[in-house]
Amino acid sequence: MAKSVPTEFKLNSGITIPAVGLGTWQSQPGQVEKAVEHAIKSGYRLIDGALCYGNEEEVGKGIKASGVPREELFLTSKLWCTYHDRVEECLDITLKDLGTDYLDLYLIHWPVRTVENGSSKLFPTKPDGSRNIDRKWDQAETWRQMEAVLAKGKVKAIGVSNFSELYLERLSKTWKVVPAVNQVELHPYNPQHKLKAYCDSKGIRLEAYSPLGSAGSPLHDDPVIKKIADKHGVSVATVLISYQVNRGVVVLPKSVTPSRIDDNKKVIALDEDDMKALDGLAASGKQTRFVTPPWGNDFGFENWFGPGTDAPEGFVFESRGQTFE
Ligand SMILES: NC(=O)c1ccc[n+]([C@@H]2O[C@H](COP(=O)([O-])OP(=O)(O)OC[C@H]3O[C@@H](n4cnc5c(N)ncnc54)[C@H](OP(=O)(O)O)[C@@H]3O)[C@@H](O)[C@H]2O)c1
Repeated sequence: MAKSVPTEFKLNSGITIPAVGLGTWQSQPGQVEKAVEHAIKSGYRLIDGALCYGNEEEVGKGIKASGVPREELFLTSKLWCTYHDRVEECLDITLKDLGTDYLDLYLIHWPVRTVENGSSKLFPTKPDGSRNIDRKWDQAETWRQMEAVLAKGKVKAIGVSNFSELYLERLSKTWKVVPAVNQVELHPYNPQHKLKAYCDSKGIRLEAYSPLGSAGSPLHDDPVIKKIADKHGVSVATVLISYQVNRGVVVLPKSVTPSRIDDNKKVIALDEDDMKALDGLAASGKQTRFVTPPWGNDFGFENWFGPGTDAPEGFVFESRGQTFE
């Protein structure tokens, strides 16, 4: 009998989440409304957004235009870094922009608090151009405020994003609610096997961002991945999306192209050989991260590789020209 693949997963809060959702980062004004409308009309129920993407009002219009009732959708958004001391205020902006009175899932976008200083509302910088980060801020306080909006019923589940094992361990000292989700960069060049094992052990569901390797991705040309795609007669994108679902991870491909949005819904069962090949690609010398916002090296390396750890050989602290705005 053919192996079946899940279409949804259970979160530790008891609610279910669709296995595949539409990403909206870098979906431009004038495109994102149509993309969201098309996605929902064609069967997507999970939409992944964030205040800092600057497009939630249009995402909201797309949701409305789809005609699908709110309660059938699963809406995720993220607390931006300048709001760590004002979680409810940030959430209220998102709710208003999306045109809804609750979220299904609200995440701390990054374990970093930045402080407004008049340079920029969302991306405040110091005179030397580096981000104006409050390095003394305790994430325990941010999480306490996340727990408060959950208790108020404004969100159905809370979670984190870009949290390493180290950051989760620190948070676990004071959390009352275990994060339902940790959304991190995941694809065969950055599978984060150790973080996955850790999150599995705590009942925290991983979500894969940049599952296709983001814009301009080299993953589409990888011979190992192409071979698996050819074997199953599907696109490379389908293999990359299916890889995450087959390992129990929620996956969030972004597209504003209707044909790709349709293709990205497709999930196939991968066999043991496929999974072994995909699981081993990073360790074979291809380890790469594609999303590396300029938080500063001290934060970045500690966050991603553990305290006092240098970046692995070959690691490049650049994001191929992408900015995080
Ligand atoms: N929590 C975080 O810090 C964080 C960080 C990054 C991303 N995210 C979330 O994760 C989502 C996905 O990540 P991402 O946007 O970085 O990248 P991605 O989904 O890995 O890749 C998106 C890129 O791939 C293209 N694409 C989409 N489907 C394709 C297909 N079937 N074949 C070929 N190319 C295809 C898209 O082009 P077109 O749009 O032109 O079709 C776009 O250029 C984001 O949108 C966001 O919701 C979260």
